[in-house]
Amino acid sequence: MRDSLDDLFRRVLSAKIFVNRDLLRPDYVPEDLPHREAQIFRLAETLAPALRGSRPSNVFIYGVPGTGKTAVTKYVLNKISQEGKKKGIALNIAYINCKHDDTNYRVLADLCEAIDARVPFTGLSTSEVFRRFVKILDSTSSSMFVILDEVDSLVKKTGDKILYDLTRINNQLSRAKVSIVGITNDLKFTEYLDPRVRSSLGEEELVFPPYNALELEDILKRRADGAFMRGVIEPQVIKLCAALAAKEHGDARRALDLLRVAGELAERAGNDKVTEEHVRRAQKEVEKDRVVEVIRTMPLHSRILILSLYLLEKSKGRNCVTGELYELYSSVVKNFGLEPLTQRRISDLINELDMLGIATAKVVSKGRYGRTKVVNLCIPVTNLREALQEDPRMMAFMNK
Ligand SMILES: Nc1ncnc2c1ncn2[C@@H]1O[C@H](COP(=O)(O)OP(=O)(O)O)[C@@H](O)[C@H]1O
Ligand SMILES: [Mg+2]
Repeated sequence: MRDSLDDLFRRVLSAKIFVNRDLLRPDYVPEDLPHREAQIFRLAETLAPALRGSRPSNVFIYGVPGTGKTAVTKYVLNKISQEGKKKGIALNIAYINCKHDDTNYRVLADLCEAIDARVPFTGLSTSEVFRRFVKILDSTSSSMFVILDEVDSLVKKTGDKILYDLTRINNQLSRAKVSIVGITNDLKFTEYLDPRVRSSLGEEELVFPPYNALELEDILKRRADGAFMRGVIEPQVIKLCAALAAKEHGDARRALDLLRVAGELAERAGNDKVTEEHVRRAQKEVEKDRVVEVIRTMPLHSRILILSLYLLEKSKGRNCVTGELYELYSSVVKNFGLEPLTQRRISDLINELDMLGIATAKVVSKGRYGRTKVVNLCIPVTNLREALQEDPRMMAFMNK
C-alpha cells in the first residue's frame, strides 16, 4: 500500500497539467464573461440607480442551468458594490442560495446577517423577526439588494409568503430601499406564484439563452488560459468539451466540469497531455455524478419507484409494464410505512424519470390487448447503489 501511495504522490506531483485548477471550479466568478455582455449591461443598467440613491426595479432572471445567471449576477453586484465604495454609498447585498437556505428561517437569518443585525431567533415568530429586520434596515438608510438565487426551491418548499413580504417591504421603509433579484432555472416557476408577487418580482425580466457550441468553446478557451500549463491541452479537447455540453442544453457548468475532470484524469494517470480520450472518460464520470446526485436528492416516493423498477428487472427481466411496476411499488412503499401515490401520479413520475435519463418509458402496441407502456432502467446498478446507500432500508431491499 505504502509503495503504491508513494507512486501515486510521485505521479501527481510530477504531472504538469494545472497551474491553478481552482479557476475551473463552478463557484469561481471569472473577470471575463464572454457572450453575456448584453445581460451584464441590462442588469447593471437596471441596478445602477442604487448608486444615486433611487430604488432600482426588481429583476427576475431566468434560463436553463449553466447559462451564467449566478455568475453574471455576482459579477454585476461586485462591480456596483465597488463603485458604491468609491463613491461612499452604503449598499447592502444579501446573496441567498435558496436551494441551500430553503426555509423562511434561513432566509431571514441571511437577511439579518447581511446588515449585521443581531436579532434573537429563539422565542420570536418569523413575522416578528421580519419586523425587527425591517426596523434595523430602515435605521441604516441604505439600499439593499436581496438576491434570491434558485428561488423556485424556496417557493416549492415553503410557499411564497416570504416573497410576498419582501416584495411589499418598501411600503414599510421610509429611508432604506430594497430591490430583489430573483433567479430561477425553472421556466414555469411563475405559475406557482401569487399574481401580485409575480408582477412585482418581474418589474424587469432578463432571459439567459443557452450557449451554443462555439460560444462554449470561447468560454472554455478563456477559462482554460490561466488554469492549465501552456500546451498541455491537445487541440481538439476544448472543441469536444464544448460540443458535448452544447448537447446538454448549452450548459457551461457541464463544459467546465468536463474540462476540469479530463485534466484531473490526465494528472492522476501521470500523463503530460490532456487528450480527447480523457474527455470521453470525464464524460462518464460527470454523468455518473449527475445521476447519483439527481437520485439522491429526489423525493422518497420517486426513489422507491426507482428501487421497485430495479427489483422488478432483477426478478423478471427488462421491459416491465407499468401495471406490474405500480403493483410492486405499492407493496414496497407500504414497507416504508407510506401510502402509495395514485397510479396517475406514478405515471407522471415515470415520465419524469424518462426526462431525467434515469429510465426510458415507451408506449408499445400489444396486439389485441391494446397499448401499454414499458419501462426500462437505463443507469448502471453501481450508480443506483451509490445514490441509495445512505438509506439502510433501501439498501436492505437492494441486497435481497
Ligand atoms: N460567459 C461565461 N464565461 C465564463 N464562464 C461562464 C460563463 N457563463 C457561465 N460560466 C461558468 O459556468 C458555470 C455555470 O454558470 P452559472 O452562472 O452558475 O449558471 P446558472 O446560474 O445559470 O446555472 C459557472 O462556473 C460559471 O462561472
Ligand atoms: Mg445558478
